[in-house]
Amino acid sequence: MAAERMRGETEETAAGSLFLNQSAFQKLIHSSPEDGWEKCWEQGFTPWDLGRPTPIIQQLYRMGALPKGRALIPGCGTGYDVVSIACPERYVVGIDISEIAIKRAIQLFSSSPNTNHFIFLKEDFFTWHPTELFDLIFDYTFFCAIEPKMRVAWAERMSGLLRPEGELITLMFPISDHIGGPPYKVSISDYEEVLCPLGFKAISIMDNELAVGPRKGKEKIGRWKKIRSNSSL
Ligand SMILES: C[S@@+](CC[C@H](N)C(=O)[O-])C[C@H]1O[C@@H](n2cnc3c(N)ncnc32)[C@H](O)[C@@H]1O
Repeated sequence: MAAERMRGETEETAAGSLFLNQSAFQKLIHSSPEDGWEKCWEQGFTPWDLGRPTPIIQQLYRMGALPKGRALIPGCGTGYDVVSIACPERYVVGIDISEIAIKRAIQLFSSSPNTNHFIFLKEDFFTWHPTELFDLIFDYTFFCAIEPKMRVAWAERMSGLLRPEGELITLMFPISDHIGGPPYKVSISDYEEVLCPLGFKAISIMDNELAVGPRKGKEKIGRWKKIRSNSSL
C-alpha cells in the first residue's frame, strides 16, 4: 500500500518535497505523540524520502571531504545516506526511532557491497548512549522533524555524541516562513542559538546548490566544530 501511494505521487510530492503531503502527515504525527513516526512509516506517509542518497552528501563523499572514522546519521529513515558514505575508512551508524524504517533499511541494503561498514539500529536519539563517540554526525531532515522545544536537547546530544575534534554537518532545511510542522521552519540562527552556547562554531555555511526539486533555495549546508570540548557518552 505504501509503495502504491508513493508511485501515485508526482515527482514533486514523492521526491524532494517540502513534505507537501503535509496535512495528512502532520495529522498523523500530532494524533499520536508516542508513536506518530511509526504510524507514518506503517501507513506509507513518508513524503520526505528521496528514494536515493542526498546529492550534497554524495558529492562531499566523492570529493573526500568528509571526516573518516565513525559517523552517525540520526533519524536516518530508509538509510540511503548511511550506505552512501560508508566505506572501509568510515563506519556509519544509522539510527531511527521507527522499527519499520529500520527493518526497511536493513532489508533494502543487506546485500550492499559495503555492508560491513554500516549498521542500522532502532534507537531514540535523545536517550541512546553508544559505547563509542563519533567523528562525524550528519543531520538532514531530523532537526526540522523534532518539535522546536526539543532543539536544546538536540544540541546537547550532538555535543555529547561527538568526539572533541568531531564535525557536525547540518543540512539546514526548510529555511522558510511557514507555520507549524513537521517539518518545522529553520533558520541559521535557530542552529546557532542552540549550538554556540555548547562551544560549537560554524566552519562554513553555504547554500546547497544540489538541493532537490522544490527544496531548492530552502537549504544551506553548515559545517560545525566544537571549539570547547564537553563530550560525554
Ligand atoms: C523527516 S524523517 C527524515 C528521514 C531521513 N533523514 C530522510 O531524509 O529520508 C525523520 C525521521 O526521524 C525519525 N525520528 C523521529 N524522532 C526520532 C528520535 N527521537 N530518534 C530517532 N529517530 C527519530 C523518524 O522515524 C523519521 O524516520
